[in-house]
Amino acid sequence: MADVDVQSHGRRGGIVINDDWPGYSLDLFSYPAHYCGDLDCVFIPHGVIMDRTERLARNIMDDLGDHDIVVLCVLKGGYQFCVDLVDRIKALSRNSNHTIPMRVHFIRLKSYLNDQSTEDLHILGAEDLSFLAGKAIVGTGKTMETLLKHVEAFRPKMIKVAGLLVKRVPHNTACLPDYVGFEIPDRFVVGYALDYNEYFRDLNHICVISESGKMKYKI
Ligand code: HPA
Ligand code: MG
Repeated sequence: MADVDVQSHGRRGGIVINDDWPGYSLDLFSYPAHYCGDLDCVFIPHGVIMDRTERLARNIMDDLGDHDIVVLCVLKGGYQFCVDLVDRIKALSRNSNHTIPMRVHFIRLKSYLNDQSTEDLHILGAEDLSFLAGKAIVGTGKTMETLLKHVEAFRPKMIKVAGLLVKRVPHNTACLPDYVGFEIPDRFVVGYALDYNEYFRDLNHICVISESGKMKYKI
């Protein structure tokens, strides 16, 4: 019974990582030596991210039927998730009768300084859009809302949002992405293209940054 609960609970909102999840000790995994001392733990190992992404790709293929899709990759934090998701969709298209023609566009959003969301949100490179959006983290919801409004103005047939991570932020009323990898506690995570002041994008796992890591790379 427990298994059934876990699986059905996770289908829409993603794999739930509880507030008391301590992560894995860094000693159990490999990571670049230049980040030694800058991290508290491995929060989501790279292999788990890849396995979850593979399943999201299948869900997307199942839902989208025969529509052509335009993938909108939200840079910079979404690039790794987008690359891996597109890669999985390509693999499914190669290996079955169900194929989806896919185009990929890139836009850039910027709103974070240190670990705080700033008021002004910049969208760069967003002209001529009709889309499925791929974004690695949905932190405030404000980002997603702004982006969706922008994309809706181009009147695409359908818009679906895929987010690798959704944070349980207090009082968050924002809508959920259609495809969610993981629901995580309100902690600042880095790696797998997510940054802290541009550092840690070159880290495979999603990790929790340490206090000394924050100090070291603070602007
Ligand atoms: N890490 C990196 N970038 C982010 C985060 C985070 O936890 N939340 C929103 N943007
Ligand atoms: Mg960032």
